Amino acid sequence: MAPESDDLPEPRTAVERLEAFRGADLHDLCDAADLAVRGGGGFGWVDPPPREVMERYWRGVLAVPGRTLFVGRLDGVVAGSAQLVRPPPNNEAQAFAATLTTFFVAPWARGHGLARRLIEAVEEEARDAGFDVLQLDVRETQTAAIRLYEALGWVLWGTNPVYARVHGRTLQGYYFYKLLRGDGAGDDQGRSGPA
Ligand SMILES: CC(C)(COP(=O)(O)OP(=O)(O)OC[C@H]1O[C@@H](n2cnc3c(N)ncnc32)[C@H](O)[C@@H]1OP(=O)(O)O)[C@@H](O)C(=O)NCCC(=O)NCCS
Repeated sequence: MAPESDDLPEPRTAVERLEAFRGADLHDLCDAADLAVRGGGGFGWVDPPPREVMERYWRGVLAVPGRTLFVGRLDGVVAGSAQLVRPPPNNEAQAFAATLTTFFVAPWARGHGLARRLIEAVEEEARDAGFDVLQLDVRETQTAAIRLYEALGWVLWGTNPVYARVHGRTLQGYYFYKLLRGDGAGDDQGRSGPA
């Protein structure tokens, strides 16, 4: 019999842009979101919705224009996600700025670097798509996420004292932005936004 060891191999981690759900992906993504919401969430839901509502939400993310979904995998299992949301076409004045949203890692998959890699994947996608700025907002209670944003060079620019209400408690929200290139003024005067 092989000797027992506490030295389990590090799990395999991967972050990818998801264009279609394969195998157990949708089920695993729902499970991960469910656990993250129960653990304090921070991306809209206060309590996890019924499974069919959650499934409809994630199918919608892939179906609607303007959203790109990234997932993080631990040993192949979807364990977290983040989205890049482009501004609507009518918002010409803010065509240079995209949004990072719905970012989480399931509690069982934390501490393996998935969150950092998810944010970096969204930043890279936004930069490659020609955006100058990324923005996000976050509840004051999401301290691990806030520390990570700051470590990755995001700038806190504002606070909303009445941002969210969670189980009767009103929470502040923090607003961050990150310049993806230069000073955010665009490559040439007057130009703004992706080609
Ligand atoms: C924030 C969150 C995504 C971090 O996930 P994670 O996969 O554990 O993060 P990582 O392993 O990539 O760690 C990233 C960094 O944060 C640090 N970190 C992560 N969790 C931490 C914690 N609870 N306390 C202190 N530091 C923490 C890590 O040490 C790491 O630092 P390093 O890159 O300098 O080594 C996860 O805690 C989460 O999903 N929280 C709930 C949802 C949420 O807050 N979403 C944001 C809403 S906008």
